[in-house]
Amino acid sequence: MVSLESHVSMTMRPLVFATSNPHKIHEVRKMVSNTDIQLLDLKDIGCEIEIPETSETVEGNAIQKAQFVFEHYAMDCFAEDTGLFVDALNGEPGVHSARYAGSKREAKANMKKLLKKLKNHMDRKAHFLTVIACILEGKIHLFRGRVDGTIISEPQGDKGFGYDPVFRPSGHMETFGQLDEQAKNKISHRAKAMESFIAFLRELNQK
Ligand code: IMP
Repeated sequence: MVSLESHVSMTMRPLVFATSNPHKIHEVRKMVSNTDIQLLDLKDIGCEIEIPETSETVEGNAIQKAQFVFEHYAMDCFAEDTGLFVDALNGEPGVHSARYAGSKREAKANMKKLLKKLKNHMDRKAHFLTVIACILEGKIHLFRGRVDGTIISEPQGDKGFGYDPVFRPSGHMETFGQLDEQAKNKISHRAKAMESFIAFLRELNQK
């Protein structure tokens, strides 16, 4: 088991990010780099199991993951859950975005299934929604971020992860798979949710 003490800084606020998705950890680590948050991931606290996500909403899953960490490790923590919601498919894949094409969570297979389902649709509008559930001293706080855009007909770009190559955010010519990391992190669903979350933590610090 990893020693927690060696990871916890005395001057920073240790916060566990309840995810094992390395892409999310990478993005969020950059977003908190100018704050007093010391981001710990599940490995840092010795949690190696896959946390259950069985809710039918992104909000429910975010709360479930954060509560799991709080109940088992009694640490301030947050979790996020994200879904891609496509208008013409009545919000699919939504909360099932990760496993849309099967339990292996393969991004390519997920995009392929999505593009096939959208083949005869003119309406390509979609949005990503992120909900962050944070538990501080046992109390839950929720933060949301959304980005609107369209699903293009063929994947473009190989940056980012998940559905990034098929999602073009409104007001941009490039997909999230083509935009560089900094550009995505300025406008993304996750960035917006994190902005509200960080602003909330800053306010708390000033009280
Ligand atoms: P979860 O929040 O880990 O359940 O993620 C749901 C799924 O949504 C991921 O496996 C990805 O397929 C997709 N997803 C989440 N965030 C992003 C993103 O920023 N870009 C593209 N796809 C994403």
